[in-house]
Amino acid sequence: MTTTYRIAVIGGTGPQGKGLGYRFAKAGHSVVLGSRSAEKAGPVADEVTERLAGVEGAGSVTGAANADAIGEADVVLLAVPYDGHAELVESLPLAGKTVISCVNPLAFDKRGAHGRVIDGGEGSAAEEAQRLQPEATVVGAFHNVSAVLLWGEDDYLDEDVLVVGDVVEAKEVAMDLAEAVTSRRGIDAGKLRLARQLEPFTAVLISINRKYKTHAGVRISGV
Ligand SMILES: NC(=O)c1ccc[n+]([C@@H]2O[C@H](COP(=O)([O-])OP(=O)(O)OC[C@H]3O[C@@H](n4cnc5c(N)ncnc54)[C@H](OP(=O)(O)O)[C@@H]3O)[C@@H](O)[C@H]2O)c1
Repeated sequence: MTTTYRIAVIGGTGPQGKGLGYRFAKAGHSVVLGSRSAEKAGPVADEVTERLAGVEGAGSVTGAANADAIGEADVVLLAVPYDGHAELVESLPLAGKTVISCVNPLAFDKRGAHGRVIDGGEGSAAEEAQRLQPEATVVGAFHNVSAVLLWGEDDYLDEDVLVVGDVVEAKEVAMDLAEAVTSRRGIDAGKLRLARQLEPFTAVLISINRKYKTHAGVRISGV
């Protein structure tokens, strides 16, 4: 790893934010787990710190209220549910930051998980974040990575992280960070609007998980 980042995780008390925060810190990045309540974030940060005890070169993990977590961060990861996403994103001090969204707008019914239609099919959670925070640079990544595996025992996940965005430098950051999770750089999968495909694709993985009793991920061949 060449660059170490200061990463704020918005929604860092949930399984996805905590799991990604754990992996990033394990790889040497420093992480602040954000929450709507600083009191809730502290114990989760302590739990991750405890898990990292003895890991050589691990970065620090602390907890803070979401907006405070962003203060010194180079990178902000949005790891919150889509419900309430717009109100939250609008309220955060994200100007000038590289923002990574792993938010999947999904719905569940008797037939299982499926992607929600965002902006009449012409949008995605990541594009919504970009629209609400025009002075931030939003990329989409880590949509298809299972929280269970992130908190699991494997050193690395046997899958690829697909990164979408309109600004190459911001995509590079997410591609760097993917290495903490998969041991490989992330894959540049194209423009931000392709988040419209990445986000609901997680519903397909959930369907595969149910059928095969696993935690499926995506692996790209030929690259
Ligand atoms: N779980 C997975 O395996 C997985 C995999 C890939 C992608 N994702 C995506 O990652 C995101 C987070 O997933 P998750 O399973 O960790 O979700 P989660 O547990 O439902 O939520 C994560 C955190 O978001 C905060 N939050 C909840 N509702 C909120 C609201 N209305 N406004 C602001 N903050 C709110 C909560 O933190 P506080 O109460 O501390 O504020 C919560 O701990 C989702 O968009 C999901 O689709 C999840």
